[in-house]
Amino acid sequence: MSIYEHDVIVVGAGGAGLRAAIAAQEEGADVAIVSKLHPVRSHTGAAEGGINAALRDGDSWQDHAYDTMKGSDYLADAPAVETLCTESPKETIQLEHWGMAFSRDDDGRVSQRPFGGLSFPRTTYAGAETGHQLLHTMYQQLVKRGIKVYDEWHVMDLAVTDEEHPEERTCHGVVGYDIQQGEVAGFRARDGVIVATGGLGQVFDHTTNAVANTGDGVAMAYRAGVPIEDMEFVQFHPTTLPSTGVLITEGVRGEGGILYNEESERFMFEYGYASNDGELASRDVVARAELTEVNEGRGVDDEYVHLDMRHLGEERIIDRLENIVHLSEDFEGVDPLEEPMPVKPGQHYAMGGIETDENGETCIAGLYAAGECACASVHGSNRLGGNALPELIIFGARAGRHAAGGDVDEAEIPTGKRGEYEPGEVDTPVEPGAVASTDAVADGSGERAADGGVTAETGDGSPSDVLERAVERQRTRIEWLLNKDDGIQHAEIRSDVQQSMTANVNVFREEEGLKQSLRDIREAREAYRDVFVKDPSRTFNTDLVQTLETRNVLDLAEAITLGALAREEFRGAHWRAEFQERRDEDWLKHTMLSWNDGTPELWYRPVLLEGESKEYEPKVRSY
Ligand code: FUM
Repeated sequence: MSIYEHDVIVVGAGGAGLRAAIAAQEEGADVAIVSKLHPVRSHTGAAEGGINAALRDGDSWQDHAYDTMKGSDYLADAPAVETLCTESPKETIQLEHWGMAFSRDDDGRVSQRPFGGLSFPRTTYAGAETGHQLLHTMYQQLVKRGIKVYDEWHVMDLAVTDEEHPEERTCHGVVGYDIQQGEVAGFRARDGVIVATGGLGQVFDHTTNAVANTGDGVAMAYRAGVPIEDMEFVQFHPTTLPSTGVLITEGVRGEGGILYNEESERFMFEYGYASNDGELASRDVVARAELTEVNEGRGVDDEYVHLDMRHLGEERIIDRLENIVHLSEDFEGVDPLEEPMPVKPGQHYAMGGIETDENGETCIAGLYAAGECACASVHGSNRLGGNALPELIIFGARAGRHAAGGDVDEAEIPTGKRGEYEPGEVDTPVEPGAVASTDAVADGSGERAADGGVTAETGDGSPSDVLERAVERQRTRIEWLLNKDDGIQHAEIRSDVQQSMTANVNVFREEEGLKQSLRDIREAREAYRDVFVKDPSRTFNTDLVQTLETRNVLDLAEAITLGALAREEFRGAHWRAEFQERRDEDWLKHTMLSWNDGTPELWYRPVLLEGESKEYEPKVRSY
C-alpha cells in the first residue's frame, strides 16, 4: 500500500487551497496539495467579478462589515465577518505585490467598482476574469516555492479516529484515488489536513459551477462527524445564461447594466423590488424579482429577463467586461454589443458548509476547512458578490498558518457541541440518511467502521493504522464498483436528484416541494445501492470518479433540503411560501447537521452578533 507523508495536506487546489498551502509553507511546514484537478483548472478560475476590500479614503472595514452583516440578513457570525473585513485590504495588497494583473485607474491605482449590496464601490477586479488572474498569481507562488502537488488524485475519504464524540476524534490524513493510474493510496498528515474543495453546484441542474463541483469535502467531513452548518442557504445568482448556466458577472450591473422585462420595463424600480439600489440590490432580492416577473407573465419567452449593457459603449465594455462579450457570444449566440443578453437565476454558491472557527479549525483535531466548502460563517443567509474571493485567501491563509503550528489569535467561534446549542426537529416524509444495506460497500462510508468490513478492533489505533484501515475500506469499495457488471449508472441517479432540487429547492420553496425532494433523494439513495461502473478501465476512469462523486451529491442534496424544511421563516436566500417573515425571536440561529452513524441529527447554535466594538442589531433589510 502506498503511503505519502507530509506535515500538512491540503485537499483542493483552488484559491483557498493554494493560499493555505503557501501560508503553511511560510511557517516552515512540508506541505502538499492533493487535488482532482490541476490547480489552474480549479473553479476559482471562473470567478469573474472581484474582491471586496476597503482600500480607499471614504471607505472603512467597519462599513464593509456592516454591509456584509446586512447582506447576510443577520445570520453571519460577527467575529468571522470582522476578520474578513479587517484582513481583506492586507491580503488584496499581497496579491498585488505577487503581481496580480488588477484593472487600474488612469492614476495607476487598483480600480474598484460598485457591486450589489455595497454602500461603497469597494470591489477590486481584473476585467471580468478576477478569479483567473488570482489563481494564476497564486499558482506562480506555488511553483516558486516548490510546493508538491498531487494532481488528478480524487480524495475519497478522511482518515479519522472513531471515538464516540467528534470532538474527541483526530484526523491523520486522507485517502486518494489516482485518476491516472487507478491506485488507492494514503496521505498521512503529521500536523493537519485542510479541506478546500470548493462548491457543490452539481447538486442542481442549472448552475454556474463546474462539473467538478460536487461538494466532496463537505460530504467527507460530514460523514467523518464534523457538523455542517446552514446548508439550506444556497445562492442563486441573478444573471446566468439560460441555456448553460454560465455566469454573467454582477460587474455588468456594477458598471451600469440594466435589467428589463419583456415589456421593456426597468422592473427593479418599476415594481418596487429595490427602489433605492435597483439592479444593485443584494443577489437574493434581484433573483426573486426576476422570477416574480417571469411568474407574473412579464418574462421573456416565459423564462428569463434581459440584461442590457449596450449604452456603456464598446470601449468601456471591452476595457472592463471583454470576457462577457465572448461568453455571451459563445454560449448563448448573443452579441451583447448589439442586443441585450438573456439572463435568469442559477445556483451559484453555497453559503453553508463545514463548520469552522475563524482559524479554519473544525471540531475534529487536525482537520481544517477553508473557502466555499467551509462555513465560518461570513455569509449567513446571503453572500454579497465580491466577498467569496477575499474569504478564500483570508481563511485559506489562516487555516494554513494554524495547521502548520504558526501563531494565530484564539478563536471566538465555538465548534462542535461546545458552548450553547439546542436540539432540533424536522418532520420528514421518509427516513433521511444512509439506506440500511447488507452490502454497505455500495454506500461508500455509510457507517464508517462497517462499510468495508474492517473494524476498529482489527488495528492498534495508531495514526498509520487509522490511515491504512481507511485506505483498505476505499480500496474494497473501488474493487466492488469495478467488479459489478450490471445495475444502474450514476448519471441517471444524479440527474434525477439535480432536477428535483432545481424544481423544489430553488429560489422559491414550499413545504410540499421540499418533501417531494426528500422522497426523490431517498429513492436515489436506494438506487445507488445498485450503482455500477460501466467502464472497467483503471486509467482516467471518469465514470468511476463521477460515481464516487454522486454519493456526495446525494448526501448534500439531502442536507440542503432538510435544513430548508426545518427553517420556518424567510431569511436571505431562503424563501418559504408558508413563512413570509424573518422571525428573529425563534430563528437567529445556525442550522447544524451531524451524521451519526448514517443518521442526520439536527441541532442549532446561536448566531454571534457581538463584534469587537459593537453589536450588530438586526434591522429590516431593504435596498
Ligand atoms: O457576479 C460575479 O462576478 C460573481 C462574483 C461573486 O460571486 O462574488
